[in-house]
Amino acid sequence: MKSIKLGKSNLLSSRIAYGCMRIVGDNNKESRKKGKLAVRTAIEAGFNHFDHADIYANGESEKLFGEVLQEMPGIREKLIITGKCGVIFPDNPKKGDPGRYNLSKEHILKSVDESLKRLKMDYLDLLLLHRPDFLFNAEEIAETFEILKDNSKVLNFGVSNFRTSQVSLLQSFCSMPLVANQIEINIHNVSSLIDGVLDQCQQQKITPLAWCPVGGVAYPAWRNTFSKEDEIRIDNEFEYQAKKYDTEKWIIMLAWLLKHPAEIVPIIGSTNSSRIKAAKHALDLDYSRIDWYRLWEARNGHPVV
Ligand SMILES: NC(=O)c1ccc[n+]([C@@H]2O[C@H](COP(=O)([O-])OP(=O)(O)OC[C@H]3O[C@@H](n4cnc5c(N)ncnc54)[C@H](OP(=O)(O)O)[C@@H]3O)[C@@H](O)[C@H]2O)c1
Repeated sequence: MKSIKLGKSNLLSSRIAYGCMRIVGDNNKESRKKGKLAVRTAIEAGFNHFDHADIYANGESEKLFGEVLQEMPGIREKLIITGKCGVIFPDNPKKGDPGRYNLSKEHILKSVDESLKRLKMDYLDLLLLHRPDFLFNAEEIAETFEILKDNSKVLNFGVSNFRTSQVSLLQSFCSMPLVANQIEINIHNVSSLIDGVLDQCQQQKITPLAWCPVGGVAYPAWRNTFSKEDEIRIDNEFEYQAKKYDTEKWIIMLAWLLKHPAEIVPIIGSTNSSRIKAAKHALDLDYSRIDWYRLWEARNGHPVV
């Protein structure tokens, strides 16, 4: 697998990362077995960057991943483990409590400790703030990052779903460079190409990590923004390109993301072994600028002027 340096860090990530949000499935014996196989397959296929969050399957994804690594002695040091914190589900800790964000010092420190325990690890290579807490205090977060770095629990820091102004605000208080902004980019959600997030990534050498990269191609996207007519037009273009490049539609989508000069790292979340192995074919396509724009136009439903 090709690799890429993440932001201004020394982390050398596989060009496509593997997301662990779905690895426990329904959390029964069968799906846990499938999830373990998915992680092992990803490692064997050359993925070295694994994305986690404290909330995935209420911590069960981190636990399962920790179990896989325990069964593969010596592998931890070869991997980049990214964690995320800051989202709190409703009814937590009390029934009736609202869903919310919490990027306070106390919460971040507690979340990292709990994640490391579940993962059975001493450190995270990268910690991302999962969502911008409306009440975040940049100075307090900068201080928290320093504590985590000083006690070697986290080596690098970044954000997720942050707007450009929020990245700038946080960066202005942090001594270390923010390494990544993990954002949704897929055929439905292209806002980062328009709202300046990807421009900022290029300018400040922050790596954009794309979540749900094949949403809307291989499975319904989180927020379905297209009409039936749009979907048919977009699907026809995917069909045309998949045939042209002798591949599958979702691989075209990955190639489309990889073409962007901000050096987007897609995070795939399939638990299907053959798809995990196939994803890297996107890196071998000589994907053209013309086809990039054909898909852009098909997606928008009007020509570029
Ligand atoms: N920062 C954030 O706010 C945020 C939010 C969401 C996710 N994430 C991260 O992003 C990662 C990836 O997200 P994701 O799992 O939604 O990524 P994804 O790769 O876009 O989607 C994976 C899903 O698509 C299905 N799929 C893929 N190719 C398919 C095909 N050809 N045909 C049918 N189904 C297909 C997979 O099913 P199979 O397993 O059957 O292949 C799986 O259910 C997550 O694991 C997580 O780490 C971050």
